[in-house]
Amino acid sequence: MAHLKVAILISGRGSNMAALIEAVQMADFPAEVVLVMSNRSHAVGLEVARAANIPTQVIRHGDFDSREAFDAAMTEVLAAAGVRLICLAGFMRLLSTEFCQRWHDSVINIHPSLLPAFKGMHVHERMLEAGVRIAGCTVHYVRPAMDEGPILVQAAVPIAADDTADSLSARILEQEHRIYPLAVRLIAEGRARAAGGSVTLKNFELPEQRLINPPPR
Ligand code: GAR
Repeated sequence: MAHLKVAILISGRGSNMAALIEAVQMADFPAEVVLVMSNRSHAVGLEVARAANIPTQVIRHGDFDSREAFDAAMTEVLAAAGVRLICLAGFMRLLSTEFCQRWHDSVINIHPSLLPAFKGMHVHERMLEAGVRIAGCTVHYVRPAMDEGPILVQAAVPIAADDTADSLSARILEQEHRIYPLAVRLIAEGRARAAGGSVTLKNFELPEQRLINPPPR
């Protein structure tokens, strides 16, 4: 099977990017990372990508008059690199409708909640305030509205009584690093297809585990 050419878009630390780069290095992984792009020249993740010998590109949103012009510049670079799948990994810019249409079903995002709950920013603080017992993370296809689109993979994560936003974020991040490579693999293997508002998965077995928090005695 030909390798799916993947670009990763970051704005900061890039730990999900690093997890994806590591995963595709596995011999049987049917995708390759051909480009890491950032809207911030000082994104820490860029150094990690360079150290892994992945081509990097900075396109600063501040250099453009409009969101559309910024997105068009990204499209040009992504198309030139032959990219077929774009992974947003802590990329903190909203994408224009034009960009979402041009790359329909070719852009995916990771978000630190069980969508459609807790879209947007300050997710961990908001989950703690709301007192939910189970948090999680989601990989989904991107649509123009923020944190919306057909869901590919989710992981559930229990919340501890003494959690802070930082401790909860760290526990969720561990699962983000597992489900993002899984979602890319499902797409690269042709096992995931967005249809309407949801994703149909081929060869998909229901996991046996159940998560109850607090656990029953
Ligand atoms: C991750 O927790 C990701 O889920 C979140 O930003 C963090 C980026 O971390 N994304 C969103 O909140 C998108 N709405 P990373 O740069 O270490 O991958």
